[in-house]
Amino acid sequence: MRLLKMLACAAALAALAVPAAQARTVKVGVVLTFSGVNAEYGDQILRAMNLYLKEHPKAASDNKIELIKRDSKNPSGTVAKTEVQELITRDKVEMLAGFVFSPDAIASAPLATEAKVPMIVMNAGTAWITNLSPYIVRTSFSMWHAAYPMGTYAAKTLGCKTAAVGYTDYPPGKDSLEAFEKGFDGAGGKVIDKIPMGNPAQVPDFTPFLQRVKDEKPDCFYVFVPAGVHAASLVKTYGDLGLRAAGIKLIGPLDIIQDTKLQQMGKAAAGMVVMGHYAADYDNPANKAFVKAWHRAYGSRSTPDFMAVAGWDGMAAIAHVVKTLNGKIDPDKAMKALEGWKFDSPRGPIMIDPHTRDIVQNEHVEEVVGQGDRLHVKVLQTIPQVKDPCKELKVGKCAQ
Ligand code: PHB
Repeated sequence: MRLLKMLACAAALAALAVPAAQARTVKVGVVLTFSGVNAEYGDQILRAMNLYLKEHPKAASDNKIELIKRDSKNPSGTVAKTEVQELITRDKVEMLAGFVFSPDAIASAPLATEAKVPMIVMNAGTAWITNLSPYIVRTSFSMWHAAYPMGTYAAKTLGCKTAAVGYTDYPPGKDSLEAFEKGFDGAGGKVIDKIPMGNPAQVPDFTPFLQRVKDEKPDCFYVFVPAGVHAASLVKTYGDLGLRAAGIKLIGPLDIIQDTKLQQMGKAAAGMVVMGHYAADYDNPANKAFVKAWHRAYGSRSTPDFMAVAGWDGMAAIAHVVKTLNGKIDPDKAMKALEGWKFDSPRGPIMIDPHTRDIVQNEHVEEVVGQGDRLHVKVLQTIPQVKDPCKELKVGKCAQ
């Protein structure tokens, strides 16, 4: 009888208990470049995303995050768009992530809007991408983050009166040119030549472009080419043609000294000055832990770079949404959770601007210096918490 009473009591208590919220699996479509000359980019970002989840197993509470990967192949935007379409309609993903090349993000933006799927851009840097859909958040950078203050710094501090600009001829290249020129002109400099230098799918022979610059003798040569094989080839040609010896400083955004390529650039890179938000050499606790975890997971010869950091931070943002919404992804609530989100990134403190949904981050003037047989990134100056200048200044499509 006593036993029966006890069992009845236990049953009554169990009925009263609030059932534990059910953990869910959230599918995230990851569209990155895994083939062609730029395959390394996709690996960097995906490795960082996986590493974040491994290092923070409870980041999304008990919910699971399933990454469904797709190769965007070439940087035209067409493959990425088709993949996004399928991820949304067939795989029923609740969030999208990745997007190395601007055309991929630009082509996919209307689908994110139509289907109301939050889209975390982890590289594509054309400033106005975030204006294309209210469901876009960017954890990488805008081309203006680096190019605009670099223009000011080149005129005011490097003492460049004239500059030539070389750029890969597609949206982020044009954006970087426009941003640099606005900063440089505004600080009293003059851009004397603007040179389109091929497309992102193929590395051109940079010789004719750089010979033209050598003949023009500007004080500075500002370049945006995609990181990776483009940047490595550009710096090599700069060295081979003797532009530094001719007194022409090579400057640009951080893309042209990408960590994964820096050591193989050799002597030609020493003396380059860039504006950037990440280098594996950064000396802060979050970066030390990140680089250590990276080496443990992928070997000491592998290094993370600025693309990896955007993947790491982007994954943290996704996990934050999944945790906040307890696995039930309502797109508008997800955007609310991301707006104003703050994070201690390996690059330093970051925030998602609640108005523009773009990243706010420190920018650093950095010089490449030789140290023993290694090239090192030395921070010369820091500009704290930079908001995308294109949107701050309301230039062109950024004003919309
Ligand atoms: C871009 O397409 O937006 C892009 C690609 C490579 C970079 C930077 C920006 O290094």
